Amino acid sequence: MMKSLLYLSRNLSFNRDGELERLIPQIQKRNARLSVSGYLYTDQDYFLQYLEGDEAVLDRLWFKICQDDRHEIMYMTTTDIDELRFPDWSMKFFCNSTQVEVLLYKYLIEQMQFMASKSLKSRVLSFFGQDLNIWKMVDHIRLVTNPFAQHA
Ligand SMILES: Cc1cc2nc3c(=O)[nH]c(=O)nc-3n(C[C@H](O)[C@H](O)[C@H](O)COP(=O)(O)O)c2cc1C
Repeated sequence: MMKSLLYLSRNLSFNRDGELERLIPQIQKRNARLSVSGYLYTDQDYFLQYLEGDEAVLDRLWFKICQDDRHEIMYMTTTDIDELRFPDWSMKFFCNSTQVEVLLYKYLIEQMQFMASKSLKSRVLSFFGQDLNIWKMVDHIRLVTNPFAQHA
């Protein structure tokens, strides 16, 4: 079974000295070995990471990412998937992206911040509302970054 995972976290450690850029190739190598794909977007204050792959593999990876004290997780959502959205990206890194991409990511970050500000109960109740919108945005981003991808 495959699943996809999207989370928002606050950057607690990385500044602009290139430390993050040095971490990216290590992450890419590890994810390629695990057959995990996805992307990492940052505006320096926040990380927005999308991961997809085998459910058990992703659960183990998520456990590690959660424990990493270089960032603080604010919100996470997952869905089951039948096919990979970004099979060719072991971990695509976006920071200075195109205007459209930046706008899409900003919108997505705002949605997730909004969800993170809500109580657990209302998060559970609204899963099929708000989180569904979040996953729609993920598909929009896929279309922007890969114009050849087909609409579901
Ligand atoms: C924002 C952020 C994203 C990360 N993404 C990944 C990732 O996609 N894959 C990965 O293996 N490690 C990722 N890491 C690093 C992990 O948190 C952890 O340091 C790494 O898995 C090494 O764990 P280990 O040395 O205990 O095996 C990320 C770290 C940060 C801060």
